[in-house]
Amino acid sequence: MNITVIGTGYVGLVTGTCFSEMGNTVTCIDIDENKIENLKKGIIPIYEPGLEAMVLKNVKNKSLFFSTELKDGLTKAEIVFIAVGTPMGDDGSADLQYVLAVAEQLGSEMEKSLIVVDKSTVPIGTGDKVKAVIQEELDKRGSNIDFHIVSNPEFLKEGAALQDFMKPDRVVIGAESKEAFDVMKDLYAPFTHNHDRMITMDIRSAEMTKYVANAMLATKISFMNEVANICELVGADVNQVRIGIGSDSRIGYSFIYPGSGYGGSCFPKDVKALKRIAEENGYQPSLITSVEEVNDRQKLVISNKVIKRFGENLSGKIFAIWGLAFKPETDDMREAPAIYIIKDLVKRGAKIKAYDPKAMVEAKDYYLKGLEGITYFNSKYETLQNVDAMLMLTEWKEFRSPDFGELKSQMKNAIIFDGRNQYGNLNLEEKGFEYYQIGKKSIYS
Ligand SMILES: NC(=O)c1ccc[n+]([C@@H]2O[C@H](COP(=O)([O-])OP(=O)(O)OC[C@H]3O[C@@H](n4cnc5c(N)ncnc54)[C@H](O)[C@@H]3O)[C@@H](O)[C@H]2O)c1
Repeated sequence: MNITVIGTGYVGLVTGTCFSEMGNTVTCIDIDENKIENLKKGIIPIYEPGLEAMVLKNVKNKSLFFSTELKDGLTKAEIVFIAVGTPMGDDGSADLQYVLAVAEQLGSEMEKSLIVVDKSTVPIGTGDKVKAVIQEELDKRGSNIDFHIVSNPEFLKEGAALQDFMKPDRVVIGAESKEAFDVMKDLYAPFTHNHDRMITMDIRSAEMTKYVANAMLATKISFMNEVANICELVGADVNQVRIGIGSDSRIGYSFIYPGSGYGGSCFPKDVKALKRIAEENGYQPSLITSVEEVNDRQKLVISNKVIKRFGENLSGKIFAIWGLAFKPETDDMREAPAIYIIKDLVKRGAKIKAYDPKAMVEAKDYYLKGLEGITYFNSKYETLQNVDAMLMLTEWKEFRSPDFGELKSQMKNAIIFDGRNQYGNLNLEEKGFEYYQIGKKSIYS
């Protein structure tokens, strides 16, 4: 099929690349000229395992193209995906300006019948808005081109995006015409060929499904973080509790790790947006509101431990930070706990020596840009000289089994604060470290 993907970010680039990998001809459009120029030269704007090789292969095969001009993608396309950002607006709702701008452009530039698929995460009823905007533009130019609206929310995880897209747990399709369902079924058939994973529904339910999935996962995380904080107070070990409850098949083991709270581009904004959607419709969502409040507090649990250990005034103290990205295998720092923790420590006079395998450019150029008191290092061990303590904040594999002898020999104090999830049993106390983690009372405090 001939496909156009509008918005070449994490979702758009992965979507376009994976469809081209399956033999479709895909044009990825973006208004960011620099991004498109780089992609044409084979420079990939994001870090996502396996993506670079797949992009280069499909560009070489002439099945994947990049352009800043929508009309380049509209001449032959049968299906157009909208995959632009829907960032958080000032009031917490999803900002639809990019989606609606694309709808307007589509309405004024489409030349033949199209299936318009919304892949961005959008508030319920956006499908109707997109349809109305396109129709308005078509009416303005007296055109009666036929088009179909589809909602196809994306569930990929950054860090495992290709794998998730190529082997999805499910493909949710919301549409209102048989023709649209049939085309989407054909398009996704190669991704779901061992058994049908397509779930069809109406457009509003598909839009709602995406928010509910993220809110449910965020709820599990906040619930377990709250449990972790209680465990610490009562002298229980949350990791033992986690294994104890996960063994119940009704609960399961996934998404019940305690940590420094959820971050990233999706959970924070989608939980907020769902809360706004409920409020706008006259419902006070108390559980969803609490999920967010617990998460906001959780981001500072580790810096509170540092303050408890070293005092409110951290002038003269130096801390090594291992991990800046909001999770491993990505350079994405959107809403990363590291941002909040580092800013809190620096505000109190501390100096930071930071390292992340992939996110340092993001930190320097954007999320921690201009922050005084932070220095970046090219390897994790280089951060350790003379530090008062080290904080581990992202679950990168290379932090799992570091050389603890080397750590001890370089650090002023053998003190580690572990804000990561999943690594509760390092037994660092036995290796001579003062060790603080989430959900387990330290023997030192
Ligand atoms: N990142 C994820 O893990 C993820 C997962 C599932 C769903 N989503 C959702 O998918 C959507 C996109 O997310 P993302 O992370 O890929 O965003 P992103 O910010 O990485 O990329 C969006 C891209 O759209 C481009 N753009 C904006 N307006 C445009 C226009 N008029 N024409 C062409 N391009 C335009 C931007 O320049 C940018 O490159 C959001 O709604 C998000 O909530 C994201």
